[in-house]
Amino acid sequence: MKVNVLRRMTPEQEPYWESFLYDGSEDNTVAGLLDYINYNDDILNDKGEKTTRISWECSCIQGICGACAMIVNDVPALACEAFLKDIQGEEISLRPLSKFPVIRDLVVDRSGIYDSLRHNNVCIETYKPPSDGDHEQDYASAKCLKCGLCIECCPKYTDGRTFYGAPFANDCYLVASRNQEKSHEILEIYQEHFKDSCAFDLACMRICPMGIKITACMKKLNSLK
Ligand code: SF4
Ligand code: SF4
Ligand code: FES
Repeated sequence: MKVNVLRRMTPEQEPYWESFLYDGSEDNTVAGLLDYINYNDDILNDKGEKTTRISWECSCIQGICGACAMIVNDVPALACEAFLKDIQGEEISLRPLSKFPVIRDLVVDRSGIYDSLRHNNVCIETYKPPSDGDHEQDYASAKCLKCGLCIECCPKYTDGRTFYGAPFANDCYLVASRNQEKSHEILEIYQEHFKDSCAFDLACMRICPMGIKITACMKKLNSLK
């Protein structure tokens, strides 16, 4: 299998494609494939030339840290959950997420997701569980990995300066439901940075690896008014 990787060594460098040959198992995932290519002391591209290891991020290899999010054959996915046997064709292309600054190869800087929460004070502060709390929805929302896959396919998210996307709405719900004294403040922020601009096409919900239902978050936030 030919593996095409969109590479760059520094954030300033123009990206370029480099290809590799993979002759390992089809039962592997994209994460396993990257480990396989990076394993030897000498890393060779498909022309037999020496090259550098492919940079990518991972931590858990079981779909729970979100670090390995990238674009696999034009589809945003977690590399550790993308199985080669499910990928059509003889070639595979790997690109970094496009909505975040690239650090190197497939590694991007997703700190903007946390910055949007920090700058808007979307944090619980004092935990006050509601007597009629929806713990099922709380639990579902708390599973957000901040992986950025939803942001990648969001038609409204551009530079992350005004519209913050699904992870932001998700955390707005979590904070508002756990600290009612803050709910009015949170609802205003949610309206400004999410609700007023969201296209409600639900691309984020379809791609989310944790199955988070943004519609449920929106419904809950609207009911807190
Ligand atoms: S909502 Fe889903 S896709 Fe978006 S960051 Fe959280 S876990 Fe990832
Ligand atoms: S519903 Fe559409 S516009 Fe709104 S956050 Fe999700 S992907 Fe973005
Ligand atoms: S390495 Fe943690 S989700 Fe893939």
